[in-house]
Amino acid sequence: MPIDPAPVAALLRGRRLLVCVAGGIAAYKVADLVSQLTQAGVDVRVAMTSSARRFVGPATFHGLSGRPVATDLFAPEGSPEPHVELGDWAQLILVAPATANLIARIASGESADLVSATILAARCPVVVAPAMNDAMWAKPVVQQNLVKLLEDGITIVDPESGRLASGHSGAGRLASAEAIFSALETVWRETHDLAGRRVVVSAGGTREPIDPVRFISNYSSGKMGFAFAEAAADRGAQVSLVTSAQHADHAGVTKIAVETAQDMLAALQRETVGADLLVMAAAVADYRPAETYEKKVKREGRERLVLELEQNPDLLAELSHQPGAEATFKLGFAAEDADLQERAEEKVRRKGLDAIVANDISRKDIAFGSDYNAGFLIFRTGERHEFARITKRALADQVLDLVKDRLR
Ligand code: CTP
Repeated sequence: MPIDPAPVAALLRGRRLLVCVAGGIAAYKVADLVSQLTQAGVDVRVAMTSSARRFVGPATFHGLSGRPVATDLFAPEGSPEPHVELGDWAQLILVAPATANLIARIASGESADLVSATILAARCPVVVAPAMNDAMWAKPVVQQNLVKLLEDGITIVDPESGRLASGHSGAGRLASAEAIFSALETVWRETHDLAGRRVVVSAGGTREPIDPVRFISNYSSGKMGFAFAEAAADRGAQVSLVTSAQHADHAGVTKIAVETAQDMLAALQRETVGADLLVMAAAVADYRPAETYEKKVKREGRERLVLELEQNPDLLAELSHQPGAEATFKLGFAAEDADLQERAEEKVRRKGLDAIVANDISRKDIAFGSDYNAGFLIFRTGERHEFARITKRALADQVLDLVKDRLR
C-alpha cells in the first residue's frame, strides 16, 4: 500500500526521535516513515519488540536510520542499561505500529522487554499510533487502556478506517504518514513552549568562607532550582544555572559554578542581561564572615571563637535595579515558617518581583532536601495559585505554565 508523501516539518530537524516498532503488519509502513524522517534530517533511532522482528528485520531499520537497532533489554557487562540510555537519549518517542498487546503493556507499566521498559524510563513526550484488527480496536479493554495512556499524557494518533490486512474493513489501519508527522510536530511545539527563551536559575545555598577549609551555609539542597532549570530546558529554553551545589549535566542547561553570595550576584548580573525569566531559587546567605582567615583557624589557645558577620547584598533587589531589568520576569521564593501570605507579599514589593513561590518550611513532609514541595504562587497583581504536595519538578512545570504567557 503506498504511503502518502508528507513533508516533515523543519521543526523536527536535528531532534532525537526514538521509533518503537511493535509486532504488526503495519511495521512495513513504519520502515517508510523512518526513511522519510531520516531523510528530513531527524536523528532517528529504532527499538523493536521480538514480534516486530518477525514482520521486518532490524537490518531494514538499521539501513534506513543509519544506526544500529535496539532489540535487547540487556547490554554487555559494563555498558549502560539500554532502556535507560535510550529513554535519556530520546527527545520524542513514536510508537508505531502500537499493537493491542504493547498498548496493554504500556498501560500497565510493564517493563519486561526493551520497548516497554524504554517507554517507562523515558523522560520525553510519547506519541502512540495504534494499528490492529477492527474487532481488537473496538474492544472495551483496548479503549480503556488507551484512556490510561491519555491520562499519562501520551498522545494517540487514531487509526484510520479502511481495508485491513485481515481482509475485514473497519477502523484499525495505521494513521497516514501525514497524520503521524503532524502529531509529532504538534507535540513538539506544545512541549517546547519556551523555545527561543533565555532562562536564568539560581539554586542551592551559597558558601561564605570562614577560612580555607570552613564555610557558613544552609540546608538548601538546590533541588527546587534544579527542577526549574531542567523543566525550562526540556521545554526548549536556553538555561543558565548559577549554583554552588552539585548538579548532573542536563541537555540545555549551562552550569555556572559559584561559591559566595557576592560571586552569585556577579554571575547573575552577567547572565540576566537580555534574559526572559529569572528564577531565584537560591537560599542566599544573608550574612558572611566580616573577615576571612587566610590560614586554617587552629583550636590551640582559643577557648571561644567569635565570628563577626556582615550583611550580604539582597541579590534580587540589586538585580531589579540593573538597567534593562524590566525586560526580565523575576520569580522569587519565600521559605517561611509563619505568616506566609503576608511575608510573601511584602517580599514581592521589597524585591521588585513579578511573582513569588511561597512554601511553609515548618511542614515536615516537604523538608529541606525533599523531592516534594507545596505552597502557593502569588503574582504582583495579587493573583494566587495554590499547589498541593507535588514533586518539585511538577511544581516547576505548573509555575512555568502560569508564567510563560507573561514573559515580556
Ligand atoms: N534573596 C536574595 N538575596 C539575599 C537573600 C535572599 O536575592 N541576600 C532571594 C532568595 O533567593 C529568594 C528571596 O530573595 O528568592 C527570598 O529569600 P528569603 O531568604 O526568604 O528573603 P530575605 O530577604 O532573606 O528575608 P528574611 O529576612 O525573611 O530572610
